[in-house]
Amino acid sequence: MADKEEFQDRLLSLGLARVSEAAALASAALIGRGDEKAADQAAVNAMRNQLNLLDIAGVVVIGEGERDEAPMLYIGEEVGTGKGPAVDIALDPLEGTTLTAKDMPNALTVIAMAPRGTLLHAPDVYMEKLAIGPGYKPGTVTMTMTPSERVSALAAAKGCSTENITVCVLERPRHEEMIKEIRSTGAAIRLITDGDVAGVMHCAEPDVTGIDMYMGSGGAPEGVLAAAALKCMGGQFFGKLLFRNDDERARARKAGISNFDRVYTRDDLVRGDVIFAATGVTSGSLLSGIKREPTAVTTETILMRSKTGSVRRMTYRSPLK
Ligand code: FBP
Repeated sequence: MADKEEFQDRLLSLGLARVSEAAALASAALIGRGDEKAADQAAVNAMRNQLNLLDIAGVVVIGEGERDEAPMLYIGEEVGTGKGPAVDIALDPLEGTTLTAKDMPNALTVIAMAPRGTLLHAPDVYMEKLAIGPGYKPGTVTMTMTPSERVSALAAAKGCSTENITVCVLERPRHEEMIKEIRSTGAAIRLITDGDVAGVMHCAEPDVTGIDMYMGSGGAPEGVLAAAALKCMGGQFFGKLLFRNDDERARARKAGISNFDRVYTRDDLVRGDVIFAATGVTSGSLLSGIKREPTAVTTETILMRSKTGSVRRMTYRSPLK
């Protein structure tokens, strides 16, 4: 018998895929219905029910919010049967609630699991993010470089001109200056309206997605999930928490963070082995979305383990009753 405390990532991973599939299936009927809240709630309920079937002693460290604002999958909630290994859970039952409500590309359900105490308890604040794919030397791009310096450095490392670099950026007024500067280098920008976990993951497969680099600010919880994905797929990720007021600083302190200027690397955010699953809700460059046919619903899930670097893509067909 394996030690109860051991993180049996291989055995746990299929269960994790089921959790992510269940959340996607639950949100299927709400794609394109204009109701973000209902889509999110359906995904949350299904993810929680499925998660509680797993033989883990899980604690949600990245979840739906603080206990007083999220009744389910709140930060600190214990999940699983309590019988297995002690694990940290980072999740976003529906990453891209607006994308789902509007039936726009790249909405995902996302979950990561790691040994207890190895995922950063990121507060619900913004994070400045920078990511590139695998195969580059450490220090190729850094948070201290300006956006145009990053483009030039990445082009030099890739052996191409800056015109052949594509950067993914969330379309937000706060990014206008950065977008102008990136464009001034000749690089292309893929603007996304939401969903920066998928945005970062795109960097790991530039040949498939056409994206070389991700930059800009988005949710810090999504930053931990993106770092977990890149730890499995390969690639570099940097994140720095951004605080707009004292309340946000207090949230960080409560999460055990005292150095507010720290630049976290991928491996600071995810300090050990991790398993990661994401299921497509709406179609994108990484995953197909849910397909609804008269008699069945089909999902596509990406399931990855950092220990082996294995990336498994699975389709699941669930008959409609
Ligand atoms: P939701 O799924 O919770 O709506 O989040 C979508 C998202 O686009 C994230 O991917 C991203 O990190 C964050 O919102 C950006 O926040 P903001 O919309 O405030 O710029």
